[in-house]
Amino acid sequence: MGRPVTVRVPAKVNVQLAVGAARPDGFHDLANVFLAVGLYDEVTATPADGLRVTAEGHDVDRIPLDRTNLAARAAELLAARHGIAPDVHLHIAKDIPVAGGMAGGSADAAGALLACDTLWSTGSSRAELLDICAELGSDVPFSLVGGAALGVGRGELLTPLTVGGAFHWVFAVAEGGLSTPDVYREFDRLTAGTDVPEPQASPALLAALESGDATALAATLANDLQPAALALCPELAATLAAGRAAGALAALVSGSGPTTAFLTKDPESAHRVAEDLLASGSCRQVRVADSPAAGATVV
Ligand code: C5P
Repeated sequence: MGRPVTVRVPAKVNVQLAVGAARPDGFHDLANVFLAVGLYDEVTATPADGLRVTAEGHDVDRIPLDRTNLAARAAELLAARHGIAPDVHLHIAKDIPVAGGMAGGSADAAGALLACDTLWSTGSSRAELLDICAELGSDVPFSLVGGAALGVGRGELLTPLTVGGAFHWVFAVAEGGLSTPDVYREFDRLTAGTDVPEPQASPALLAALESGDATALAATLANDLQPAALALCPELAATLAAGRAAGALAALVSGSGPTTAFLTKDPESAHRVAEDLLASGSCRQVRVADSPAAGATVV
């Protein structure tokens, strides 16, 4: 019986999400530029008689606590690889918006994996952990590594990127959530009959990240899923407009949404934009966070 292990895992925003046509397996090839941001979930793994998941925080009534929770699946996959029983209590302290397009579920999976690997002293290599992450979901490998990375394939094949400075963000949490498969389906519907280009990372965006220049990054932010998210959630247009009017350098939907992300010049302007967004009444909650943030870390 080991001592409880707690792992802290960041949320992400996609500064570029270039989406290709649907593949035969239903997934989409991506050029996905991930940036980890300083909003964190914490996953604590404690020895137990069987596999159990509990959670605390905002909206946790909307996440499953059975074996369909990605954190539980992470524990099961790791245990199966090592021929042991997944006897662990996973407790998730949620601070990342639920079903918001900020990879909260993926963060919990990566956190559970690292926590169990540490608790059980299974000593997996980074490559083995990344392999399990990719099996769990397209965004899970990035939650493990954090920082900034270009993800290709379905987003799971990562190349780390250099970030030259801190970027300051505001996130507006919407009413309700959006299902990622629904947003991709809407993308397919909106692009049906058109020639969807091969997804490619923007050299100007990568240069902006590397230089740490927020104005340059603002000019290059792009999310191919945004029209689909707006089609499913038209009220997000008002949130984006409110953030721009409040002085954000740029506004976009985070991943598949419905959280919206606002890049700002500095921490002071982030707080101003956050106040104005909340006062606009066009969102449920606002969060301020800096990037990049470290990946899953044992605390
Ligand atoms: O990989 P993950 O389980 O997170 O993906 C959830 C859903 O999002 C997939 O079932 C698929 O509908 C969609 N998806 C996609 N292309 C990707 C990643 C996700 O179509 N590259």
